[in-house]
Amino acid sequence: MYRNTALSARSFGAYACTWIVALLLVWTPARAGPGHHAVATAHPLATDAAEAVLAAGGNAFDAAIAVTAALGVAQPQGSGLGGGGFFLLYHAESEHSVMLDARETAPEAAHRDLFLDDAGEPVPGLSLDGALAAAIPGTPAALVHLAEHYGRLSLGTSLAPAIELAEEGVPADLTYLQMAEFRKRALRAGADAAGIFLDDGELPAERARILQPDLARTLRRLAEHGHSGFYEGEIAQRLVEGVRAEGGIWSLDDLARYRVVERRPVVLEYQDARIVTAAPPSSGGIVIGQILNILAAAGAVDDSGLRTHLLVEAMRRAYRDRALYLGDPDHVPIPVTRLLSADYAADWYASIDPDRATPSASLPLFGEAEHAATTRTARESRQTSHFSVMDADGNRVSGTITLNYPFGSGLVPPDTGVLLNNEMDDFATHQGSPNVYGLIGFDANAVGPHRRPLSSMSPTFVETPDRIAVLGSPGGSRIITIVLQGILATLEGADAEALAARPRFHHQYLPDRVEFETGAFTSSVRASLVRRGHRLAPQLRPFGDLQVVVWDRSEDRLEAASDPRGDGTASVFVQR
Ligand code: DON
Repeated sequence: MYRNTALSARSFGAYACTWIVALLLVWTPARAGPGHHAVATAHPLATDAAEAVLAAGGNAFDAAIAVTAALGVAQPQGSGLGGGGFFLLYHAESEHSVMLDARETAPEAAHRDLFLDDAGEPVPGLSLDGALAAAIPGTPAALVHLAEHYGRLSLGTSLAPAIELAEEGVPADLTYLQMAEFRKRALRAGADAAGIFLDDGELPAERARILQPDLARTLRRLAEHGHSGFYEGEIAQRLVEGVRAEGGIWSLDDLARYRVVERRPVVLEYQDARIVTAAPPSSGGIVIGQILNILAAAGAVDDSGLRTHLLVEAMRRAYRDRALYLGDPDHVPIPVTRLLSADYAADWYASIDPDRATPSASLPLFGEAEHAATTRTARESRQTSHFSVMDADGNRVSGTITLNYPFGSGLVPPDTGVLLNNEMDDFATHQGSPNVYGLIGFDANAVGPHRRPLSSMSPTFVETPDRIAVLGSPGGSRIITIVLQGILATLEGADAEALAARPRFHHQYLPDRVEFETGAFTSSVRASLVRRGHRLAPQLRPFGDLQVVVWDRSEDRLEAASDPRGDGTASVFVQR
């Protein structure tokens, strides 16, 4: 503005006028936020809870509390007080991003061979069903931390919608019924879980109300007493007794010492974007960073067949490193700087043959061609949950929360209403054997006291000069490639709906195949992948459930979208 004025030969009047406008422009503080609120969650009742809390004067952090608690009630198969998650936060006033790590921790008595029999072989189901499968929950601590350090409202105000849902009941929808059918055996094993989630040991009728009065009481205790309301006292006592009665190894001390950790997120630079994403104990940020670095090493590639080949090869290599190097950063050294360096990516890029798929078996894990053969399908569905929220001031939260498998371990300790996770299966419970998502791991992710199991959950912000996207998804091992493709779509300028809907593909090193949704590849890309020797595995079940908010600052437009694959809703609204 100033330069144009100075260069033009205008009359004094026009010149003065221009100066006034210029001064106004300089003095009008740049708006830090979009002026409206936007939210996308995996369940309509959770979106409603966020709207209610924002309308009551809450900020994005209060909305995150309301959504997390409401999702746990309305979608008990996916998340809840008995689980954990990662909350990526952006605090507009301080311009500060942080990852709130509410990942579950292994109890003190856990050890490397916990899930093996006397012969050193994995005991089927032991890390998935029942008391041993459950790690110490992190979600309740996250809710308290968010309220105490970031929210505007009291914890009780933000938890109120969830408490009401738990007391009045939520109708069993189709997703609930499918997941309950899938986990019926585990749910039947305990009186409390069966009583809450089944009807006489069978599936409830569609739309029957699932009432959770014990959970409502536990939520109230949390609201009244904060952290100690869950991790100490009566609730803690009942949780430990319930777990131990079923053969578990929790102690009161395990609960008393649980803390969330504020971690520095992984920050990546790719093209003109700054990508803020999940740090260990999530593998998400590092794997995404490695893939983007390999793409950057390749430079611009116009041929879409070659570009897809490069993406698949980059995924293969990054997941191989995930298996070897990643785990709990508080317990194992992780070579983050090396894994994210341009030199390392250049080496990986140099190992890619542009014309041929690299068999995973030729990228050995320990320098020899010894290989864990895994053909397990990455089973995933609509367990685990994600939400994205941005408030009028520009505060944002991208939260991925989980119990791991649908309905977690299936165990509800009596009189708590708290359905416990089975996050212990995210450890490498047996060196080199695949977990339930087909992922393998070794020492870096071995079971050990107080360790946090390696996760794939990848809440993310994409920041370009014009746009800010808040995104994330469930999807087990596929979360990382789902989010990666969301990032790439954002950079291509896709709007929120297109971004959430775009068909997806995935490779995770082992099993050695490209899994893809209908429509992910054009026929010519598909043919070019086959020609290069890739094994293609079309999938009928959808990948993930992306929740996205996009603020286009240059066009002053705020959008939100919930993945058409899921049951969620999105909303953009003005604060009255
Ligand atoms: O933390 C993880 O990576 C897994 N426990 C997430 C599980 C999941 O996404 C299930 N899928 N829909």
